[in-house]
Amino acid sequence: MTSAGYITDLDYIPGFYPHMAPTAMRYAASLNRVIPPKTSDGFRYLELGCGLGRSLTTLAAANPQGEFIGIDINPSHVGSIEKDIAAGGLTNVKAITSDFVSLSKDIGTFDFLTLHGVFSWVSPEVREQVLTVAKKHLAPGGLLLVSYNAMPGWAHLQPIRGILRQYAALREGDTTQRIRDALNYLVFIRDKKAKYFEDNPGAAAYVDSLLKQDLRYLAHEYLNEHWTSFYFAEVASMFNAAEMSFVGTLPIQTNFWDLCVRPEFQDLFRTTSNRLVTESHKDFCANTAFRWDIYSKQPKIIENTQSRIDLIDGLFFRSVRDDLKLPHRVNLGVVTSTVQGELYETLLSILSHEALTLSQLLSHQQLMQKVPAEVIGAIDAGVAMGLFEVSANPVSHAPEASQKEPFVPSPFNQSVLKNDLLMGRPVSLASVATGTGHSIGDFDAAILHELNEAGENGLADRVIARLAESKRLLQKDGSPITDKAVHQEMAEKACAQFIKNALPQLSRLGIVKYKSS
Ligand SMILES: C[S@@+](CC[C@H](N)C(=O)[O-])C[C@H]1O[C@@H](n2cnc3c(N)ncnc32)[C@H](O)[C@@H]1O
Repeated sequence: MTSAGYITDLDYIPGFYPHMAPTAMRYAASLNRVIPPKTSDGFRYLELGCGLGRSLTTLAAANPQGEFIGIDINPSHVGSIEKDIAAGGLTNVKAITSDFVSLSKDIGTFDFLTLHGVFSWVSPEVREQVLTVAKKHLAPGGLLLVSYNAMPGWAHLQPIRGILRQYAALREGDTTQRIRDALNYLVFIRDKKAKYFEDNPGAAAYVDSLLKQDLRYLAHEYLNEHWTSFYFAEVASMFNAAEMSFVGTLPIQTNFWDLCVRPEFQDLFRTTSNRLVTESHKDFCANTAFRWDIYSKQPKIIENTQSRIDLIDGLFFRSVRDDLKLPHRVNLGVVTSTVQGELYETLLSILSHEALTLSQLLSHQQLMQKVPAEVIGAIDAGVAMGLFEVSANPVSHAPEASQKEPFVPSPFNQSVLKNDLLMGRPVSLASVATGTGHSIGDFDAAILHELNEAGENGLADRVIARLAESKRLLQKDGSPITDKAVHQEMAEKACAQFIKNALPQLSRLGIVKYKSS
């Protein structure tokens, strides 16, 4: 096995990415009139370069009917995943230590193939291996998700990577020490106003965002021998050569050019249906720096509205929150959009109470008289603008306030809470109802873990003990609270708020259940 210049002496950071969920990929494909693979009776999912496997294991826990396999060259990553699999009692997922070229031919074909944080960071030869694996192992009609650093958004940041890598190579010590030294040097030349930073103020500001990052992330992002940012058309041409066609992008709003491109630039989009051209122009108008693209092998095209309704199993729609009000204004990067009008009011009132499929929505008595294509268009636009969410199964109602004794039923979620509480990054919990993971803060994770372990009595005291173990204090206005009484009061308030606001949401998702009412 060869890592071909990819660093293997320092583990990556764990992270869950919701775009990798089958539900997200299926919905994005269907939005672009491509029939997605069916999932309700089982499916196969392969992640190439799965790192510490948080997306892989969370999605496996959220989709028990699927079979998940992750491949990574780093045995330490695979060892960590195996521990998570055992601790979470998962039986539908495995991780394999392998490079892409040595992958067993007997591994079969997959309905979903994903690679996040890989394509831009490996050698041209390894990219070819990825394409060969995809060509061989993606089932016809299957969906592949690839993320990469995109142009033109990376153009003015590319030199930063060059300086970091060159400086790190001059330094002594392990990878962590070398990236730390390189970052300090970068800050030094930025603060001393090197002309590059004067001429590129965006790059100067970007240095501050690097300072907030985990050194393990920075090492994996910047210290690999290979590192390339691509134009959309370059990636599309590589996948086309491997017999795969572009079928859409994530997040969902990026499929709507009118949500990503200011009105004065939209004429080209109205007159050109060539997606290769419109995607490239969109990236220029939005200065895209990162893309999540979906490709398919022999995609089957949905002919008309009716086919879209009939052919998609397991896509349920619901409002993002029960208390959303119209008009709903969102800024999706460069354009501020407003959702309003009678149709949206009706959809919101229905979907605040229940999660429905497209066909259930169209036969709802409040919508029966409407033109189906208009209703579906409003649902799609509502998802893009953060009004509605897509889930794999119906999501239950908010529970009664009188429900008592909350607990976390899933052994996987229990083990994630225990391991990740107060670790300084979001904690993602699996929901079978939505078929994906949902992130909560690491402090909320400590509260939920303690609630699950020993209930509400003395909850704040136990959470404070956890904070003390992690040598952390709660903060107010960015400063740690040192006064014991104030700290106690804040912890009690946070626990009460969590029980009032977060628990009902987690209960809707099935992440929390109640023993009695
Ligand atoms: C930036 S990490 C991304 C990890 C994971 N996908 C995530 O999103 O958290 C890239 C991963 O690809 C793996 N990798 C790099 N080159 C590889 C190769 N040739 N074969 C298998 N895995 C490889 C690395 O070990 C690393 O875990």
